[in-house]
Amino acid sequence: MSDSVKVFAPASVSNVGCGFDILGFAIDGVGDEMIIKKNDQNKIVIQAVKDYENLPTDPKKNVAGVAIQALLDELGSNQGFDVEIIKNIKPGSGIGSSAASAAGAVVAVNELLDKPYTRLQLVDFAMKGEEVASGDVHADNVAPATLGGFCLIRGYNPLDVIHIQPPANLWCAVIHPQIEIKTKEAREILSPEIPLKKAIRQWGNVAGLMAGLYTSNYDLIGRSLEDHIVEPQRKVLIPEFDELKLSVMKAGALGCSISGSGPSVFALANGKESADSIAAAMNTVYERTGIDYKIYVSKVSEDGVKIL
Ligand code: HSE
Repeated sequence: MSDSVKVFAPASVSNVGCGFDILGFAIDGVGDEMIIKKNDQNKIVIQAVKDYENLPTDPKKNVAGVAIQALLDELGSNQGFDVEIIKNIKPGSGIGSSAASAAGAVVAVNELLDKPYTRLQLVDFAMKGEEVASGDVHADNVAPATLGGFCLIRGYNPLDVIHIQPPANLWCAVIHPQIEIKTKEAREILSPEIPLKKAIRQWGNVAGLMAGLYTSNYDLIGRSLEDHIVEPQRKVLIPEFDELKLSVMKAGALGCSISGSGPSVFALANGKESADSIAAAMNTVYERTGIDYKIYVSKVSEDGVKIL
């Protein structure tokens, strides 16, 4: 058994329009890398968080440290680990930065301990890490980051995660304006009440999206990508959101909404060509704003954390 492992932990899009806190999918090509080694000090040492010096290295405050500790506590192990995190996902991006580090950490440690847990079981530990970053329990980024594909969190108590194979031709374009939105703050602005009429439309869409994913019905997926509850409250946080959405819909997007708590915005597409056109439309809107941004075009990824 090796004493060291390197992993790639993917970025992810959560909420997916209608599914606040219960839906998410993994994306390809962007993610954190982590190198985790066993040590003989019986403690977790966050050695470096490359490129983001402001992120905590105290293992009790670092998402990776907290997630690893949750796993070790459940296992009754006092094995120590050195953790190096190469962050390629900017914190506060809305594409699951903290979730990637939490998911990568538990998959790597599980590997080094000869896999006492399944990937599905690891989601619970990763979620505990994510909680320190966002101040609330949600698994809609950590589940897809750990398992890949689309994930539905049917329930939290107990955690019930359903993994859904994405339709073969489902692509996405994601624009990440380089401003930071703290998930904690973006949650605090949300009203705790939902009028019944809005709730009815919302759960119709969640069910429609599930049916669309299972039957590869792209039109149904598109019709269901509506959020009547969270997007209207949060879109003020994202510069040019309305224009961006209008443009990507004109460019052929199946649907478009805020990725996680923003500022990233995602659109789903039937095929790469369509996703490229959507990315071009995003570019046209944002190049006028003077705000730095990155755009990713990716298949909805079947892969969660990868052992490199
Ligand atoms: N579901 C969470 C939220 C995801 O929207 O607050 C945070 O990235």
